[in-house]
Amino acid sequence: MVTFPVIGVIGGGQLARMMAGPAIELGFELRVLAEGPDVSAVAAVAHAEVGDYRDRATLRAFAAGVDVVTFDHEHVPGGLLEELEREGVAVHPSPAALLHAQDKLVMRRAVEALGLPNPAWRAVTGTDDVAAFAKDTGWPVVLKTPRGGYDGKGVLVLRNPAALADAESWFTGGELLVEEFVPFSRELSVLVARRPSGEAAAWPVVESIQVDSVCDEVIAPAPELAPDIAAAVTKAALKLADQLGVTGVMAVELFEVPGSAAGYLVNELAMRPHNSGHWTMDGSLTGQFEQHLRAVLDLPLGSTAPVARYAVMKNILGGANADLFGAYPGALSSGPSAKVHVYGKDVRPGRKIGHVNSIAIGDESLETVRTRATRVAVLLRDGTVPPSTDQDRPKGSQ
Ligand SMILES: Nc1ncnc2c1ncn2[C@@H]1O[C@H](COP(=O)(O)OP(=O)(O)OP(=O)(O)O)[C@@H](O)[C@H]1O
Ligand SMILES: [Mg+2]
Repeated sequence: MVTFPVIGVIGGGQLARMMAGPAIELGFELRVLAEGPDVSAVAAVAHAEVGDYRDRATLRAFAAGVDVVTFDHEHVPGGLLEELEREGVAVHPSPAALLHAQDKLVMRRAVEALGLPNPAWRAVTGTDDVAAFAKDTGWPVVLKTPRGGYDGKGVLVLRNPAALADAESWFTGGELLVEEFVPFSRELSVLVARRPSGEAAAWPVVESIQVDSVCDEVIAPAPELAPDIAAAVTKAALKLADQLGVTGVMAVELFEVPGSAAGYLVNELAMRPHNSGHWTMDGSLTGQFEQHLRAVLDLPLGSTAPVARYAVMKNILGGANADLFGAYPGALSSGPSAKVHVYGKDVRPGRKIGHVNSIAIGDESLETVRTRATRVAVLLRDGTVPPSTDQDRPKGSQ
Protein backbone atom coordinates (compact mmCIF):
# COMPACT_ATOMS: atom_id res chain seq x y z
CA MET A 1 0.00 0.00 0.00
CA VAL A 2 1.43 3.34 -1.02
CA THR A 3 0.33 6.18 1.18
CA PHE A 4 0.73 9.88 0.62
CA PRO A 5 0.62 12.65 3.21
CA VAL A 6 -2.25 15.02 3.89
CA ILE A 7 -1.36 18.71 4.16
CA GLY A 8 -3.77 20.99 6.00
CA VAL A 9 -3.77 24.67 5.04
CA ILE A 10 -5.35 27.18 7.37
CA GLY A 11 -6.97 29.85 5.25
CA GLY A 12 -8.59 29.51 1.85
CA GLY A 13 -7.23 32.45 -0.12
CA GLN A 14 -5.38 32.38 -3.43
CA LEU A 15 -2.17 31.14 -1.82
CA ALA A 16 -3.88 27.95 -0.62
CA ARG A 17 -5.54 27.65 -4.02
CA MET A 18 -2.22 27.81 -5.85
CA MET A 19 -0.83 24.97 -3.69
CA ALA A 20 -3.49 22.69 -5.17
CA GLY A 21 -1.83 22.19 -8.57
CA PRO A 22 1.55 21.08 -7.23
CA ALA A 23 -0.18 18.94 -4.56
CA ILE A 24 -2.00 17.02 -7.28
CA GLU A 25 1.17 16.61 -9.33
CA LEU A 26 3.07 15.18 -6.37
CA GLY A 27 0.16 13.09 -5.08
CA PHE A 28 -0.37 14.94 -1.81
CA GLU A 29 -3.83 15.54 -0.44
CA LEU A 30 -4.50 19.18 0.38
CA ARG A 31 -7.19 20.09 2.90
CA VAL A 32 -8.24 23.65 3.57
CA LEU A 33 -9.78 25.30 6.61
CA ALA A 34 -11.70 28.02 4.79
CA GLU A 35 -13.17 31.29 6.04
CA GLY A 36 -16.35 30.71 4.06
CA PRO A 37 -17.84 28.43 1.40
CA ASP A 38 -16.95 30.76 -1.48
CA VAL A 39 -13.32 31.67 -0.78
CA SER A 40 -10.69 31.17 -3.45
CA ALA A 41 -9.24 27.75 -2.53
CA VAL A 42 -12.49 25.88 -1.89
CA ALA A 43 -13.15 25.11 -5.56
CA ALA A 44 -9.58 23.84 -6.00
CA VAL A 45 -9.36 21.12 -3.34
CA ALA A 46 -11.32 17.94 -2.75
CA HIS A 47 -11.68 18.58 0.95
CA ALA A 48 -12.40 22.03 2.36
CA GLU A 49 -14.23 22.78 5.55
CA VAL A 50 -15.51 26.09 6.72
CA GLY A 51 -14.46 27.14 10.19
CA ASP A 52 -13.04 29.88 12.37
CA TYR A 53 -9.22 29.71 12.60
CA ARG A 54 -9.41 31.55 15.94
CA ASP A 55 -11.42 28.76 17.53
CA ARG A 56 -9.47 26.13 19.50
CA ALA A 57 -11.86 23.22 18.90
CA THR A 58 -12.08 23.94 15.16
CA LEU A 59 -8.30 24.03 14.81
CA ARG A 60 -7.87 20.88 16.81
CA ALA A 61 -10.42 18.93 14.77
CA PHE A 62 -8.86 20.15 11.52
CA ALA A 63 -5.34 19.24 12.66
CA ALA A 64 -6.46 15.74 13.70
CA GLY A 65 -7.12 14.81 10.08
CA VAL A 66 -3.83 15.99 8.54
CA ASP A 67 -0.12 15.13 8.72
CA VAL A 68 1.11 18.72 8.75
CA VAL A 69 -0.52 22.10 9.30
CA THR A 70 0.58 25.12 7.29
CA PHE A 71 -0.87 28.50 6.35
CA ASP A 72 -2.37 30.71 3.70
CA HIS A 73 -2.07 33.76 6.01
CA GLU A 74 -0.38 34.81 9.23
CA HIS A 75 -3.38 35.60 11.40
CA VAL A 76 -3.80 32.39 13.41
CA PRO A 77 -3.24 33.19 17.10
CA GLY A 78 0.20 31.96 18.16
CA GLY A 79 -1.07 30.64 21.50
CA LEU A 80 -3.44 28.23 19.78
CA LEU A 81 -0.69 27.01 17.48
CA GLU A 82 1.60 26.43 20.46
CA GLU A 83 -1.11 24.26 22.01
CA LEU A 84 -1.38 22.22 18.81
CA GLU A 85 2.38 21.78 18.76
CA ARG A 86 2.38 20.60 22.38
CA GLU A 87 -0.28 18.06 21.44
CA GLY A 88 2.10 16.66 18.82
CA VAL A 89 0.78 18.33 15.66
CA ALA A 90 3.44 19.22 13.07
CA VAL A 91 2.99 22.97 12.53
CA HIS A 92 5.14 24.55 9.79
CA PRO A 93 6.28 27.23 10.12
CA SER A 94 6.33 26.78 13.88
CA PRO A 95 4.53 29.38 15.99
CA ALA A 96 7.90 30.55 17.38
CA ALA A 97 9.16 31.34 13.87
CA LEU A 98 5.81 32.64 12.62
CA LEU A 99 5.72 35.26 15.37
CA HIS A 100 8.36 37.22 13.41
CA ALA A 101 5.95 37.56 10.51
CA GLN A 102 2.99 38.33 12.78
CA ASP A 103 4.55 41.05 14.88
CA LYS A 104 6.72 43.75 13.31
CA LEU A 105 8.22 44.78 16.66
CA VAL A 106 9.36 41.22 17.33
CA MET A 107 10.75 41.14 13.78
CA ARG A 108 12.69 44.42 14.21
CA ARG A 109 14.27 43.12 17.44
CA ALA A 110 15.27 39.84 15.78
CA VAL A 111 16.75 41.53 12.71
CA GLU A 112 18.77 43.76 15.03
CA ALA A 113 19.92 40.84 17.18
CA LEU A 114 21.16 39.04 14.06
CA GLY A 115 23.19 42.08 13.05
CA LEU A 116 21.18 42.69 9.86
CA PRO A 117 20.33 46.20 8.67
CA ASN A 118 17.08 47.73 9.99
CA PRO A 119 15.77 51.24 9.35
CA ALA A 120 15.97 53.40 12.49
CA TRP A 121 12.97 52.29 14.58
CA ARG A 122 11.42 52.53 18.01
CA ALA A 123 8.55 51.01 19.98
CA VAL A 124 6.16 53.84 20.90
CA THR A 125 3.08 54.16 23.09
CA GLY A 126 1.91 57.67 22.19
CA THR A 127 2.36 60.61 19.84
CA ASP A 128 4.87 62.21 22.25
CA ASP A 129 7.14 59.21 21.66
CA VAL A 130 6.69 59.61 17.89
CA ALA A 131 7.61 63.29 18.12
CA ALA A 132 10.72 62.44 20.15
CA PHE A 133 11.73 59.80 17.58
CA ALA A 134 11.20 62.24 14.70
CA LYS A 135 13.38 64.77 16.51
CA ASP A 136 16.24 62.26 16.23
CA THR A 137 15.62 60.98 12.68
CA GLY A 138 13.83 63.89 11.02
CA TRP A 139 10.45 63.88 9.24
CA PRO A 140 8.68 62.06 7.65
CA VAL A 141 8.33 59.01 9.86
CA VAL A 142 6.29 55.86 9.31
CA LEU A 143 3.94 54.57 12.00
CA LYS A 144 2.96 50.89 11.86
CA THR A 145 0.63 48.62 13.77
CA PRO A 146 2.83 45.67 14.73
CA ARG A 147 0.10 43.13 14.00
CA GLY A 148 -2.59 42.52 11.41
CA GLY A 149 -1.45 44.88 8.65
CA TYR A 150 -1.49 43.97 4.95
CA ASP A 151 -1.38 45.84 1.65
CA GLY A 152 -0.41 49.04 3.43
CA LYS A 153 -3.28 48.86 5.92
CA GLY A 154 -1.64 49.50 9.25
CA VAL A 155 0.99 51.83 7.75
CA LEU A 156 0.73 55.61 8.24
CA VAL A 157 3.27 58.05 6.84
CA LEU A 158 3.53 61.17 9.01
CA ARG A 159 5.01 63.99 6.96
CA ASN A 160 5.38 66.65 9.65
CA PRO A 161 4.55 67.48 13.29
CA ALA A 162 1.03 68.60 12.27
CA ALA A 163 0.32 65.04 11.11
CA LEU A 164 0.72 63.77 14.68
CA ALA A 165 -2.96 64.59 15.21
CA ASP A 166 -3.85 61.92 12.61
CA ALA A 167 -1.85 59.38 14.59
CA GLU A 168 -3.66 59.99 17.87
CA SER A 169 -6.45 57.49 17.12
CA TRP A 170 -3.90 54.78 16.27
CA PHE A 171 -2.88 54.51 19.92
CA THR A 172 -5.37 52.27 21.66
CA GLY A 173 -3.22 50.90 24.46
CA GLY A 174 -0.40 48.77 23.10
CA GLU A 175 2.95 49.54 21.55
CA LEU A 176 3.23 50.64 17.95
CA LEU A 177 6.28 50.66 15.71
CA VAL A 178 7.70 53.86 14.31
CA GLU A 179 10.38 53.87 11.61
CA GLU A 180 12.38 56.45 9.75
CA PHE A 181 10.99 57.14 6.28
CA VAL A 182 13.47 55.24 4.11
CA PRO A 183 14.54 57.08 0.93
CA PHE A 184 14.81 53.83 -1.02
CA SER A 185 15.64 53.65 -4.72
CA ARG A 186 13.39 50.61 -5.12
CA GLU A 187 11.87 47.69 -3.22
CA LEU A 188 13.47 44.28 -3.48
CA SER A 189 12.33 40.91 -2.26
CA VAL A 190 14.13 37.65 -1.75
CA LEU A 191 12.31 34.37 -1.39
CA VAL A 192 13.79 31.39 0.39
CA ALA A 193 12.54 27.98 1.46
CA ARG A 194 13.78 25.88 4.35
CA ARG A 195 12.82 22.41 5.48
CA PRO A 196 12.75 21.29 9.14
CA SER A 197 15.96 19.30 8.81
CA GLY A 198 17.75 22.46 7.69
CA GLU A 199 18.21 22.35 3.91
CA ALA A 200 17.45 25.76 2.42
CA ALA A 201 17.26 27.31 -1.04
CA ALA A 202 16.87 30.84 -2.39
CA TRP A 203 15.45 32.17 -5.65
CA PRO A 204 17.07 35.13 -7.42
CA VAL A 205 16.44 38.54 -5.79
CA VAL A 206 13.56 40.39 -7.45
CA GLU A 207 12.37 43.98 -7.76
CA SER A 208 8.82 44.53 -6.55
CA ILE A 209 6.90 47.57 -7.65
CA GLN A 210 4.05 48.71 -5.39
CA VAL A 211 1.22 51.00 -6.41
CA ASP A 212 -0.75 52.50 -3.49
CA SER A 213 1.03 50.06 -1.15
CA VAL A 214 -0.17 47.05 -3.17
CA CYS A 215 2.22 44.86 -5.15
CA ASP A 216 1.70 45.64 -8.83
CA GLU A 217 4.61 44.11 -10.73
CA VAL A 218 7.61 41.92 -9.97
CA ILE A 219 10.74 41.65 -12.13
CA ALA A 220 13.03 38.65 -11.77
CA PRO A 221 15.90 39.04 -11.42
CA ALA A 222 15.98 42.64 -10.13
CA PRO A 223 17.43 44.56 -13.11
CA GLU A 224 21.04 45.66 -12.75
CA LEU A 225 21.20 44.78 -9.09
CA ALA A 226 24.81 44.99 -7.88
CA PRO A 227 26.07 41.41 -7.43
CA ASP A 228 27.41 42.16 -3.94
CA ILE A 229 23.98 43.45 -2.82
CA ALA A 230 22.27 40.42 -4.36
CA ALA A 231 24.68 38.14 -2.51
CA ALA A 232 24.32 40.05 0.76
CA VAL A 233 20.51 40.03 0.81
CA THR A 234 20.38 36.36 -0.14
CA LYS A 235 22.79 35.56 2.68
CA ALA A 236 20.70 37.67 5.07
CA ALA A 237 17.48 35.86 4.11
CA LEU A 238 19.09 32.44 4.54
CA LYS A 239 20.49 33.54 7.90
CA LEU A 240 17.05 34.72 9.04
CA ALA A 241 15.47 31.45 7.88
CA ASP A 242 18.10 29.43 9.72
CA GLN A 243 18.28 31.45 12.92
CA LEU A 244 14.53 31.90 13.28
CA GLY A 245 13.95 28.21 12.46
CA VAL A 246 11.65 29.02 9.53
CA THR A 247 10.11 26.11 7.66
CA GLY A 248 8.35 26.49 4.34
CA VAL A 249 8.66 29.52 2.10
CA MET A 250 9.63 32.92 3.53
CA ALA A 251 9.75 36.25 1.70
CA VAL A 252 12.04 38.99 2.96
CA GLU A 253 10.90 42.41 1.73
CA LEU A 254 13.77 44.88 1.43
CA PHE A 255 14.55 48.48 0.57
CA GLU A 256 17.48 49.15 -1.75
CA VAL A 257 19.25 52.21 -0.33
CA PRO A 258 22.30 53.23 -2.36
CA GLY A 259 24.97 54.85 -0.22
CA SER A 260 23.77 53.32 3.06
CA ALA A 261 26.14 51.11 5.05
CA ALA A 262 24.84 47.78 3.73
CA GLY A 263 23.18 49.14 0.57
CA TYR A 264 19.83 47.75 1.74
CA LEU A 265 17.47 47.59 4.74
CA VAL A 266 15.07 44.86 5.81
CA ASN A 267 11.39 45.89 5.57
CA GLU A 268 9.43 42.87 6.71
CA LEU A 269 9.06 39.10 6.64
CA ALA A 270 6.25 36.91 5.32
CA MET A 271 6.27 33.20 6.19
CA ARG A 272 4.26 31.62 3.40
CA PRO A 273 4.31 31.83 -0.37
CA HIS A 274 4.25 35.51 -1.29
CA ASN A 275 3.05 37.77 -4.09
CA SER A 276 6.67 38.64 -4.91
CA GLY A 277 7.23 34.92 -5.64
CA HIS A 278 4.34 34.26 -8.06
CA TRP A 279 6.78 34.60 -10.96
CA THR A 280 8.41 31.32 -9.86
CA MET A 281 5.33 29.36 -11.02
CA ASP A 282 6.47 29.86 -14.62
CA GLY A 283 9.94 31.40 -14.27
CA SER A 284 11.75 28.85 -12.13
CA LEU A 285 12.20 25.09 -12.29
CA THR A 286 10.43 24.87 -8.94
CA GLY A 287 7.59 27.23 -8.15
CA GLN A 288 7.11 28.58 -4.65
CA PHE A 289 3.89 26.63 -4.04
CA GLU A 290 5.50 23.29 -4.86
CA GLN A 291 8.55 24.26 -2.80
CA HIS A 292 6.40 25.19 0.18
CA LEU A 293 4.73 21.76 0.15
CA ARG A 294 8.08 19.98 -0.19
CA ALA A 295 9.53 22.06 2.64
CA VAL A 296 6.71 21.57 5.15
CA LEU A 297 6.84 17.81 4.48
CA ASP A 298 10.62 17.87 5.05
CA LEU A 299 11.26 16.57 1.54
CA PRO A 300 14.32 17.51 -0.54
CA LEU A 301 13.84 20.95 -2.07
CA GLY A 302 13.56 21.52 -5.80
CA SER A 303 15.96 23.54 -7.96
CA THR A 304 15.28 27.26 -7.84
CA ALA A 305 17.09 27.86 -11.13
CA PRO A 306 15.36 30.38 -13.40
CA VAL A 307 14.14 29.01 -16.73
CA ALA A 308 14.59 32.28 -18.63
CA ARG A 309 16.68 35.47 -18.58
CA TYR A 310 13.74 37.43 -17.21
CA ALA A 311 10.40 36.68 -15.68
CA VAL A 312 7.80 39.35 -14.98
CA MET A 313 4.68 39.02 -12.87
CA LYS A 314 1.89 41.55 -13.25
CA ASN A 315 -1.02 41.49 -10.81
CA ILE A 316 -4.57 41.70 -12.11
CA LEU A 317 -6.55 43.97 -9.83
CA GLY A 318 -10.30 44.21 -10.17
CA GLY A 319 -11.22 46.97 -12.64
CA ALA A 320 -13.75 47.94 -15.26
CA ASN A 321 -14.32 44.44 -16.60
CA ALA A 322 -16.55 42.18 -14.49
CA ASP A 323 -16.52 39.31 -17.01
CA LEU A 324 -13.02 37.94 -16.68
CA PHE A 325 -13.62 34.90 -18.85
CA GLY A 326 -15.23 37.06 -21.51
CA ALA A 327 -11.85 38.78 -21.88
CA TYR A 328 -9.95 35.52 -22.35
CA PRO A 329 -10.06 35.31 -26.17
CA GLY A 330 -8.56 38.81 -26.53
CA ALA A 331 -6.07 38.43 -23.70
CA LEU A 332 -4.83 34.95 -24.57
CA SER A 333 -4.44 35.72 -28.27
CA SER A 334 -2.59 38.91 -27.41
CA GLY A 335 0.13 37.00 -25.53
CA PRO A 336 0.29 33.28 -26.33
CA SER A 337 3.46 32.92 -24.25
CA ALA A 338 1.97 34.72 -21.22
CA LYS A 339 0.62 32.54 -18.43
CA VAL A 340 -2.65 33.60 -16.82
CA HIS A 341 -3.50 32.62 -13.25
CA VAL A 342 -6.88 33.55 -11.77
CA TYR A 343 -8.09 33.10 -8.24
CA GLY A 344 -11.81 32.34 -8.71
CA LYS A 345 -12.82 35.57 -6.98
CA ASP A 346 -15.59 37.97 -7.87
CA VAL A 347 -14.30 41.17 -9.43
CA ARG A 348 -14.21 44.10 -7.01
CA PRO A 349 -12.29 47.32 -7.63
CA GLY A 350 -8.67 47.02 -6.50
CA ARG A 351 -9.00 43.40 -5.34
CA LYS A 352 -6.23 40.96 -6.32
CA ILE A 353 -8.07 38.59 -8.67
CA GLY A 354 -5.20 37.00 -10.57
CA HIS A 355 -1.80 37.58 -12.11
CA VAL A 356 0.00 37.18 -15.41
CA ASN A 357 3.48 35.72 -15.74
CA SER A 358 5.63 36.42 -18.75
CA ILE A 359 9.10 35.01 -19.35
CA ALA A 360 11.76 35.89 -21.89
CA ILE A 361 11.77 33.55 -24.84
CA GLY A 362 15.32 33.30 -26.14
CA ASP A 363 16.96 36.72 -26.00
CA GLU A 364 13.77 38.78 -25.74
CA SER A 365 14.36 42.09 -23.98
CA LEU A 366 13.03 42.85 -20.53
CA GLU A 367 10.92 45.59 -22.14
CA THR A 368 9.19 43.02 -24.38
CA VAL A 369 8.56 40.69 -21.46
CA ARG A 370 7.13 43.49 -19.30
CA THR A 371 4.98 44.88 -22.09
CA ARG A 372 3.45 41.48 -22.71
CA ALA A 373 2.64 40.90 -19.04
CA THR A 374 1.07 44.34 -18.67
CA ARG A 375 -0.91 44.11 -21.91
CA VAL A 376 -2.46 40.76 -21.01
CA ALA A 377 -3.21 41.87 -17.43
CA VAL A 378 -4.81 45.12 -18.64
CA LEU A 379 -6.91 43.23 -21.22
CA LEU A 380 -8.23 41.04 -18.43
CA ARG A 381 -8.79 43.95 -16.08
CA ASP A 382 -10.47 46.31 -18.55
CA GLY A 383 -11.56 43.98 -21.34
CA THR A 384 -9.67 46.26 -23.72
CA VAL A 385 -6.34 48.08 -23.96
CA PRO A 386 -5.77 51.71 -24.88
CA PRO A 387 -4.68 51.98 -28.55
CA SER A 388 -1.23 53.32 -27.69
CA THR A 389 -0.42 50.21 -25.64
CA ASP A 390 -1.77 48.01 -28.40
CA GLN A 391 0.72 49.41 -30.90
CA ASP A 392 3.56 48.15 -28.72
CA ARG A 393 2.52 44.62 -29.49
CA PRO A 394 5.51 42.74 -30.86
CA LYS A 395 4.99 41.56 -34.44
CA GLY A 396 4.48 37.90 -35.26
CA SER A 397 4.35 35.04 -32.78
CA GLN A 398 5.68 35.68 -29.30
N1 LIG B 1 10.06 52.85 6.73
C1 LIG B 1 9.53 53.03 5.52
N2 LIG B 1 9.98 54.02 4.72
C2 LIG B 1 9.43 54.23 3.50
N3 LIG B 1 8.41 53.50 2.99
C3 LIG B 1 7.94 52.50 3.74
C4 LIG B 1 8.47 52.21 5.04
N4 LIG B 1 7.80 51.15 5.54
C5 LIG B 1 6.89 50.79 4.60
N5 LIG B 1 6.96 51.58 3.52
C6 LIG B 1 6.13 51.47 2.29
O1 LIG B 1 4.84 50.96 2.64
C7 LIG B 1 4.65 49.66 2.05
C8 LIG B 1 3.90 48.75 3.02
O2 LIG B 1 4.65 48.60 4.21
P1 LIG B 1 4.81 47.17 4.92
O3 LIG B 1 5.40 46.22 3.97
O4 LIG B 1 5.50 47.34 6.22
O5 LIG B 1 3.27 46.90 5.27
P2 LIG B 1 2.25 45.76 5.00
O6 LIG B 1 0.94 46.41 4.89
O7 LIG B 1 2.46 44.76 6.05
O8 LIG B 1 2.65 45.19 3.62
P3 LIG B 1 2.27 43.85 2.90
O9 LIG B 1 1.18 44.20 1.95
O10 LIG B 1 3.55 43.56 2.21
O11 LIG B 1 1.90 42.85 3.93
C9 LIG B 1 6.05 49.17 1.72
O12 LIG B 1 6.03 48.21 0.70
C10 LIG B 1 6.73 50.48 1.33
O13 LIG B 1 6.38 50.85 0.02
MG1 LIG C 1 5.06 44.61 2.97
